[in-house]
Amino acid sequence: MFRYQQLAQELQQQIEQGQYACGDRLPGVRELAKRRTLSVSTVVASYRQLEADGYLQANSRSGYVVKARYQPPPLSSTVIAPSVVPSIVSSQQMALTLSKAAADPAFMALGAAVPALTFLPQHALHKALQQVMKTDPTRLMRYEASRGAPELRLQIARRMALHGAVVSPEQVIITNGCQEALMLSLKAVTQPGDVVVIESPAFYGLLQALEAAGLQALALPTDAQTGIAPDVLQQALEQWPVKACVLIANYSNPLGSLMPASHKQRIAAMLGERGIALIEDDTYGDLGFAATRPASCLALAAQQDIFYCSTFSKTLSPDLRLGWVIAPKHTAKLEYLKFISNISSAALPQLAVARLLKNGQYERHLRQVRPQYQAAISRISSSIGRLFPAGTRVSQPQGGFVLWVELPAGVDGYLLAQQALAEKISIAPGTIFSPTPARQKPLFSNFIRLNCAVPPDARLERALQTLGLLCHRQLNAASKPG
Ligand SMILES: Cc1ncc(COP(=O)(O)O)c(C=O)c1O
Repeated sequence: MFRYQQLAQELQQQIEQGQYACGDRLPGVRELAKRRTLSVSTVVASYRQLEADGYLQANSRSGYVVKARYQPPPLSSTVIAPSVVPSIVSSQQMALTLSKAAADPAFMALGAAVPALTFLPQHALHKALQQVMKTDPTRLMRYEASRGAPELRLQIARRMALHGAVVSPEQVIITNGCQEALMLSLKAVTQPGDVVVIESPAFYGLLQALEAAGLQALALPTDAQTGIAPDVLQQALEQWPVKACVLIANYSNPLGSLMPASHKQRIAAMLGERGIALIEDDTYGDLGFAATRPASCLALAAQQDIFYCSTFSKTLSPDLRLGWVIAPKHTAKLEYLKFISNISSAALPQLAVARLLKNGQYERHLRQVRPQYQAAISRISSSIGRLFPAGTRVSQPQGGFVLWVELPAGVDGYLLAQQALAEKISIAPGTIFSPTPARQKPLFSNFIRLNCAVPPDARLERALQTLGLLCHRQLNAASKPG
C-alpha cells in the first residue's frame, strides 16, 4: 500500500468513527504534511482519494470538508420467500463468465468473490513457498497422502480447537478448496436425485456442486441478518425427504448474515434427531468484523452429524486451492472419496500454509485484513447510496467482503450484468444465486452481488458510477411510454 493510501485509510476511519462530522474541515494540506512528515503531494493524493470515494468535498475557501454521507437503506429483514419446492439445478454458465472475468485484468472484478492482491499476504506467502522449496525439495516429488500433509492437518486441528471445535489431526481431510470439501461431503451422504436444503439466496458454487451431483435443491427463505430460521427448517423437514442441509452459518455468501449460536444449536439438534447430515461451509468464519470469532456449528454441537468445510481461498489466496473437511463420523469415507476423486492435494501449498499457521503470520494477517474488509464494505455501500437510483437497498454484512444489492423494481440485474460486461465491469446477477425451478420466474432478478475486496481507487469509483448510470438508464427506459 502507498503512503497516500495509508493516510487516506486512517482519515477515512476517523471520519467513520465520528472524529470528523459532516461539514468539519480537515487539517490544511501543508499543516498535515508537516505534522506527519509527509510530502504535500502525498497529503493531496490522500485527500483526492477521499474526495473520489465520496468522503470529502474540496471547498475553495475552507479546503477539504467532510461530506454528508448517505447509507442506502438495509434489506428488509426476511429476504423474499421462494416457493419451497425442491428443484434440479442448472444454468450456471454465467458463473463461469464471472470466474473468467475475475482472472482478466482488463475487467473491474466486482463479480466473483475474489480478494484483490492488496488484501492478500503476498509477501509472507511467497516467502513460505520459497522456504518449503529450499528445505523440503524431495517432499515435492511424490504423491502427498490423500488425507493431506500431517503438518497442515496438525495446525488446522490446533486452530479449530482454539475456536471451540476439538478435533484430532487424523480427522482433518485436506481438499482442493472448499468447493471440493462441499462436493466430497455431499457425495458421502447423498445419491443423485436426493433433496438437499440450502439457503436462499445461495452461494452459486454450491449450486454448481448440486448440479454436478444431480441433487435437488430445497432453497429456504433466509433472513438477511440471522440466516435460516429453525422454525422454517422444521416445516421443510416435515414436508420433504431431506438428506442433507448445507448452511453458511457465519457470514453467508451473499447475505453476510450471522446465525445466532442458539439457532445453530437448535438446527444441529433438529437435523441430528432426524438422521440428516449438516454440511457447514465456514469459508468466511475468520473474516468477521466483531472482536471475537463466532463459533462454528461443529464447535457448538460436536455430537451431531456435521461436515465442517472451510478454505484458505479468501484469507491467503484462492490459487492455493486449499481447503479442508472434518466430519468425525465419516473420516474414512471422506479419505476414500478424496482418493478416488483426484488422489491428493499438492504438498507445496500445504506445507507453506502450515508454516504461516505455525509462525503466527496467518493470525497477524487476519487482524490486519478484517478492518480493511469492513471499511471496503462501508465505502462501497455509501457509494451505492450516492450513485444508484432511490429505492436501492443494500445488505449489512457482519463479515466477509460481498454486498447483496436490491435494485428498484424495473431494473433487471441480469441485463445490468451484461451491460456492465460490455463496459469491462463484472458483477454477479442475483438470478445465479437461485436454483430456479423450470417454468417459474427467476428469483432475485432485481438483485446483484458486488465483490468489495477491490482497491479503493478512481477505477472503482468510475465502475460504480457506470453501474449507477446503467441502472438509471434502465429505469428511464422502463418509464418511457410505448
Ligand atoms: C461460501 C463459499 N464457499 C466455498 C467457496 C469456494 O471456495 P474455494 O475457492 O476454496 O473452493 C466460496 C468461494 O467463493 C464461497 O464463497
